[in-house]
Formats: sequence, structure tokens, C-alpha cells
Amino acid sequence: MIDLRGRRALVTGGSRGIGAATARMLARAGADVMIGYRTRSADADRIVNELERMGVHAFARAANIATRDGAESLVAATVTALGGVDIFVANAGVWQAEAVPLTGMSDEQWATTIRENVDSVFFTSRAVARVMGDGGRIVLVSSTAGQRGEAFHADYGASKGAVISFTKSLSTELAPRGITVNSVAPGWVDTEMVTAPMANEGRAKISASIPLGRIASADDIAGPIVFLCSPLARHVTGEILNVNGGSVLCG
Ligand SMILES: NC(=O)c1ccc[n+]([C@@H]2O[C@H](COP(=O)([O-])OP(=O)(O)OC[C@H]3O[C@@H](n4cnc5c(N)ncnc54)[C@H](OP(=O)(O)O)[C@@H]3O)[C@@H](O)[C@H]2O)c1
Repeated sequence: MIDLRGRRALVTGGSRGIGAATARMLARAGADVMIGYRTRSADADRIVNELERMGVHAFARAANIATRDGAESLVAATVTALGGVDIFVANAGVWQAEAVPLTGMSDEQWATTIRENVDSVFFTSRAVARVMGDGGRIVLVSSTAGQRGEAFHADYGASKGAVISFTKSLSTELAPRGITVNSVAPGWVDTEMVTAPMANEGRAKISASIPLGRIASADDIAGPIVFLCSPLARHVTGEILNVNGGSVLCG
């Protein structure tokens, strides 16, 4: 039903986790895909091979998108490889597993999280907006933490709250150009990012806290992202789509 043949997609953080699942699903729908990643080139190459086997053009590019030069080089490489960008998924991000009270949070931790989760989205979105045409789709990955906050992870909650308000600002600003901008806000997702809290009894405790009774897979998040990138969602913009098994009910 979702046909993305002829569409050119850039997915940041596409070497693993939610980004890799999204890249696979976009390719399955027929889109050509560039995945961005930071360092893990073996993982990125493996995903590119998988996508190519689906019959689409696929590329990967290492770039630290928390820097302006890195972000702009990734978008430029996408335009060179694919000829343009019709779909942009800003997915790369970081979460520090260690719980840190505000009184003990270092300046460095705060600045790093904001740089990784907010500056990266600004730098990449700005570069994409300069080249994206009518009918473009932008999806920014936020988090339940950006809506209800996250105690002992105040840096992360603030960074994802910024992504949510950035989504709303861009949605109105880019609407006259026929570009939609939405956010998917995941709850717990079974990826490497959350290996530590899932260890030992953590997994069972987290599952029990989710009304639908299980932790999301990366595919559970990729589906709603791809929906928002598709013609089915052509009249949806500025939306924050919760994908959390019912654990946090706010928009
Ligand atoms: N997992 C969860 O429970 C959860 C919940 C809510 C929201 N989220 C959000 O969902 C998104 C994806 O999470 P995930 O769990 O899939 O993460 P993940 O498994 O840790 O993967 C992170 C990806 O981002 C890339 N990356 C990180 N920083 C980068 C940078 N500065 N420049 C370029 N690439 C960078 C990594 O590249 P390398 O492979 O090269 O390191 C990797 O591809 C994040 O924004 C996260 O905050 C996750």
C-alpha cells in the first residue's frame, strides 16, 4: 500500500537500532536510501548490503552530525549519491544510561547531550530544508522523555523536548513549501541504547510498566515513521506521534 519508489531518503543513525529498521522499511517500500552513522562502518555496510538486496540504491556515510560540517557533509553526500532528498528522518541521538541527579550533573554532560540531540537535528534539518522540494517529508525522532520529562536524565528530557518544539516550528514554517514535519516519540525500544536498564530484572520490570505489556522493537517504531513519510500522511503535519504501548498518554 505504501509505495515510495522514486523517493530519496536520508536516515541519520541508520547503522543500527531504530534507524536501521527505518532504512529497511523505507527500502522495502521502494525508496532509495542514504544512511548516516558516526563510526560503526561494519554495521553500516551490512545495512547497505541488505538494502541493495531489496533492489534499491543504498549508500552509507560516516559523519559526526553534532557538528555543522559533519551534518552538512552528510546532506551534500546524499544529494550527490541520490540526486536530492525527499524524505528525511532525523533519528540519531544519545542517551546516557547512568542516572544523574541535577545537583551532580556536569556542564559537560549537559552540553554533550544538547549537542548530540539538538544541534545535530538543527544542523541536518537546516541543510535538508535548503535542498528539499515540494512534497518533502521530515520526521524527527523525539521521546516520551521530551513530553513528560525524565527524572535523573534532565539533559535528555530537555533535548527531546526541544526536538518536539522544533518539529512544531518547522511544520508551520515549511508547510507553504508542501513539506510536512512530524515527530515520532518512542517509549522504551529494544536497542543497544538501552542495554543497561534492560539487564537482569530490568526487562521484566519495564515490560510490566507498559499497558500493552511489552517493550517496543525497532520495527514497532519504524512503521509509524514510514507512515509519516508516505502519501497516506500527506495532510498530517506538526504531529507528535506517541509509540509507547500506552505508557505515556500525551501529545
Ligand atoms: N531505544 C530507546 O528506548 C529510545 C526511546 C526513545 C527515543 N529513542 C530515540 O530514538 C533514536 C534512535 O535510538 P536507538 O535506540 O536506535 O539508538 P542506537 O541503537 O544507540 O543507535 C544510535 C545511532 O545513532 C548514530 N549516532 C549517534 N550519534 C551520532 C552522531 N553524533 N553523528 C552521527 N551518527 C550518530 C549511531 O552511529 P554509530 O552506529 O556509528 O555509533 C547509531 O547509528 C534516538 O534519537 C533516541 O534518543 C530511543
